[in-house]
Amino acid sequence: MTTEDPTTERWALITGATAGIGAAFARRLAADGWHLVLVARDAARLDATATELTSRYGRQVVTLPADLSTDDGCATVEGRLAAQPPVDLLVNNAGISLNRPFLRSTAEDESRLLRLNVHAVLRLSLAALQQMTRRRHGAVINVSSVAGFGAIAPGSTYPASKAWVTNFSESVGQSARPFGVRVMALCPGYTRTEFHDRAGIDMSGIPAAAWLRADDVVDEALRDLRKGKLVSVPSWKYKAAVAGLRHAPQWLLHRVTRDIRGRIDGQ
Ligand SMILES: NC(=O)c1ccc[n+]([C@@H]2O[C@H](COP(=O)([O-])OP(=O)(O)OC[C@H]3O[C@@H](n4cnc5c(N)ncnc54)[C@H](OP(=O)(O)O)[C@@H]3O)[C@@H](O)[C@H]2O)c1
Repeated sequence: MTTEDPTTERWALITGATAGIGAAFARRLAADGWHLVLVARDAARLDATATELTSRYGRQVVTLPADLSTDDGCATVEGRLAAQPPVDLLVNNAGISLNRPFLRSTAEDESRLLRLNVHAVLRLSLAALQQMTRRRHGAVINVSSVAGFGAIAPGSTYPASKAWVTNFSESVGQSARPFGVRVMALCPGYTRTEFHDRAGIDMSGIPAAAWLRADDVVDEALRDLRKGKLVSVPSWKYKAAVAGLRHAPQWLLHRVTRDIRGRIDGQ
């Protein structure tokens, strides 16, 4: 599917659209002529984002406040995905990490992470794909992470949640393809957003060269979607990192990716 055809009225629904990668998707798609449904929890920030996008790009921008770590929040967005006008592109982008290793975490926090990073992606993908496959048109981008390619950051469950998103998207993408519908996992590396601050993760040790810009991540993702890729890894640096994560011996990976955040006292 093209993201640049000015002659058709197309709607994209983006979760986590008020900051970081989701906000970059919103800007880029509005500039390409898409109408938007924006989802996040903070209603005031959603309204401010919608007002800015409408005045800058002249597209229709609808806001849908919802906490996607809850059943009610997922049901609200599922309702919109089943309604008219149909959504042609779903970007499942909202996601979180935690700053505590699993052994010091709580079941409540870990469940909240899984409900947002995994369960919401599953529910919204299913709702979108049911109408898209019926219409034989549409696409879903699930924002995963390079972290999903290995058990890095020992003690963190975030990589496991993203491994699920990548594997799920690759698998469902193959079954949606015969219906003319695309599903792609987008796997960025470190990207400058609010993500690490929100989780309270100190990233001061990460070299400047490792950081990606959200706008560049989105540009490459949309190019890869047009090419029909099932998995998109923006930037040559992270393509190389993924090759390493996939092919290096496990003992070496575990040594290289050991993360002080994940160490438990006495181990
Ligand atoms: N930044 C990175 O280095 C990086 C790298 C790889 C992958 N990723 C992935 O990229 C995606 C976007 O991350 P980002 O870095 O752009 O994050 P971000 O800057 O922290 O933005 C997160 C967005 O998600 C929304 N959100 C958070 N919790 C939500 C919830 N429970 N329900 C609905 N919306 C929620 C936030 O708005 P509200 O707070 O108002 O809800 C905000 O709009 C995530 O899936 C993340 O795992 C990020």
